[in-house]
Amino acid sequence: MRRKLAAGNWKMNGTASALTELSALVRAHSAAQCDLLICPPATLLSRAAHQTEGSAIAIGGQDCHCEGSGAHTGDVSAEMLKDAGASAAILGHSERRAEHGETDSFVRAKVVSVLNAGMQAVVCLGESLTERESGQTLQVVGTQLAGSLPDTIDPDRLVVAYEPIWAIGTGKVPTLDQIAEVHDFLRAELIARFGQEGDKIPLLYGGSVKPNNAAEIFAVENVDGALVGGASLKAEDFSPIISALEAS
Ligand code: PGA
Repeated sequence: MRRKLAAGNWKMNGTASALTELSALVRAHSAAQCDLLICPPATLLSRAAHQTEGSAIAIGGQDCHCEGSGAHTGDVSAEMLKDAGASAAILGHSERRAEHGETDSFVRAKVVSVLNAGMQAVVCLGESLTERESGQTLQVVGTQLAGSLPDTIDPDRLVVAYEPIWAIGTGKVPTLDQIAEVHDFLRAELIARFGQEGDKIPLLYGGSVKPNNAAEIFAVENVDGALVGGASLKAEDFSPIISALEAS
């Protein structure tokens, strides 16, 4: 059985008052039947980690630099995230790939730094609408997967999230068949490259996951959880998504 994960990506949202949402999640999911991860903005990491100490919720960063330290103004390293209380980091999110020009090899270097820090890496990939419409989806995600993962991995600390760019923050969701096609493909690619270890890596779906579509998405084979943006900001939205994953 692969582990299941419900991960929330707060993106550039939230000041200290947002931590009340975290308290509500801690209270509601003290005996969670799946792994839970919240990735707040870097400014809230320490407080979020403090607030979730001893709870079922882990805290993660949304990105990190691939080097440990140095002259990289505005960046933080995996070790710094860990020092702030994070045990995971999202890497290669499409917003970072688009807004900060992150390439697959750049993402791979970040994955190495996060794994070396003893943390969990949540690696994102996904196609644009143009790529989907021109029939290139599997080729695009296959290339991203191959280029973004290092050869040496720890399946217990690696998660892959399929996030079609056109589904992020748009309310548009692929059909269940489209999700199944990509997840089956990614699973086969992971097994081809890493053998049995590749079968242990959870595959998350991300892109407009909401309380009203979570259960049907989690019923798709090879979907082991979700990476949730907008609907992770409020406990009342994220909580039913967690419950749907526990029930799947
Ligand atoms: P969304 O974002 O749930 O708001 O579509 C998903 C993501 O970017 O991880």
